[in-house]
Amino acid sequence: MNRLHIKKAAVLGAGVMGAQIAAHLANAGVPVVLFDLPAKEGDKNGIVRKAIDGLKKLEPAPLANKAALKLISAANYDEHLAELAGCELIIEAIAERMDWKNDLYGKIVPHISANAIIASNTSGLSIDALSQALPADVRPRFCGIHFFNPPRYMRLVEIIATRTTDAGTLDALETWLTSRLGKGVIRALDTPNFVANRIGVLSILAVMHHTQRFELGFDVVDALTGPKIGRPKSATYRTADVVGLDTLAHVVRNMHGTLPDDPWHAHFKVPAWLEQLIAQGALGQKTKGGIYRKVGKEVHVLDLGLQDFRPSSGELSAEVAGILKDRNPASTRPAASPHCVPRRTRRRSSCGRSSATFSTMPPCSSNPSPTMPAIWISRCAGVLVGRRGRSRSGNPPAGRTSPGRSPPTSPPARR
Ligand SMILES: NC(=O)c1ccc[n+]([C@@H]2O[C@H](COP(=O)([O-])OP(=O)(O)OC[C@H]3O[C@@H](n4cnc5c(N)ncnc54)[C@H](O)[C@@H]3O)[C@@H](O)[C@H]2O)c1
Repeated sequence: MNRLHIKKAAVLGAGVMGAQIAAHLANAGVPVVLFDLPAKEGDKNGIVRKAIDGLKKLEPAPLANKAALKLISAANYDEHLAELAGCELIIEAIAERMDWKNDLYGKIVPHISANAIIASNTSGLSIDALSQALPADVRPRFCGIHFFNPPRYMRLVEIIATRTTDAGTLDALETWLTSRLGKGVIRALDTPNFVANRIGVLSILAVMHHTQRFELGFDVVDALTGPKIGRPKSATYRTADVVGLDTLAHVVRNMHGTLPDDPWHAHFKVPAWLEQLIAQGALGQKTKGGIYRKVGKEVHVLDLGLQDFRPSSGELSAEVAGILKDRNPASTRPAASPHCVPRRTRRRSSCGRSSATFSTMPPCSSNPSPTMPAIWISRCAGVLVGRRGRSRSGNPPAGRTSPGRSPPTSPPARR
């Protein structure tokens, strides 16, 4: 397959991602059938219609032009599966559960056309494992197509082949995503959470760990880990709300289940407070409340110390703001423990030549890592905690960490 002609597409799932992916396809002039589960009461397209309506209000705007809405039609799996026959591209974007995705694939297969490309927007489930639910003749046309949130604005798209994806189909899809949707495509291997989430979710977990360790407010940490370090305004915790706390938890659980040998495996856990929010149905922006929520015109943030929500100031003290002006924080960090420096060894190759290599060292507990948020948090927490002596939990201030602990400051050096 050299060139794709997508005259019509389908998106399965009208949640946070599916609705916005449909909007972006419509922005590019592609008619889209947007599917979701049939509503239990009233109009069976109720769930999808609500999602389409939501596109008009969402910020930043997923639609380049409200007229693009006309290109999106609502559908449900009870009544409209036959519409799939006219779609050359089908993007699945339902909840991050392998069993649910597999069930859906079983439902759609009898209705898809012989040339349609089917792709999953999964955040990190194995694409090869997902493909096993498809018949052998469909598998060469199946791959991962990982858009990021918000899909209209995030340039990166990861595409992931299975062992059976047809190479020409993947090439054609890459060309189409680049030229028609304006995306920057990378090809990721079918490893847990692919590339960006493997790094990004580890970073989120590291920040969560240090937040609790230094007993910082979620809003203070967001002030530290947003634009001040070149990251989006939504920083860490607002980003979690935008992603959806349930989706984030699925991704963390996937890491826990599939990366048993990772040096940070012990930290691949959903914090108890996050599990609690999910259990209460507070899933973030999509349920109008998660770590943050609006109370009237005020934004409130969950405070673990208070075990309640409080108004969020998101302001930094003058001391912390001063630290953030430091352009080279690594130059002033405490001396590294010898256990944290990659060890240089000599290795003899098969042809007898010896070469220098760096061996992987165990996680370091006593010095800040080169991971920017971890440095900022450690140093800024030093100011915040140091000012009041010891923290409420009795943890020593930053820079005097007890040697027995191993916070996920960064993965050990790999070269
Ligand atoms: N949220 C993000 O930032 C983000 C980013 C990239 C990729 N993803 C991935 O995109 C996919 C969708 O995520 P989302 O954030 O849009 O989720 P979401 O929770 O907002 O929406 C999930 C949708 O799946 C539907 N659904 C639930 N159970 C179903 C079932 N058994 N059968 C069919 N449909 C079902 C729901 O009705 C809902 O519309 C997931 O695989 C997720 O990992 C999410």
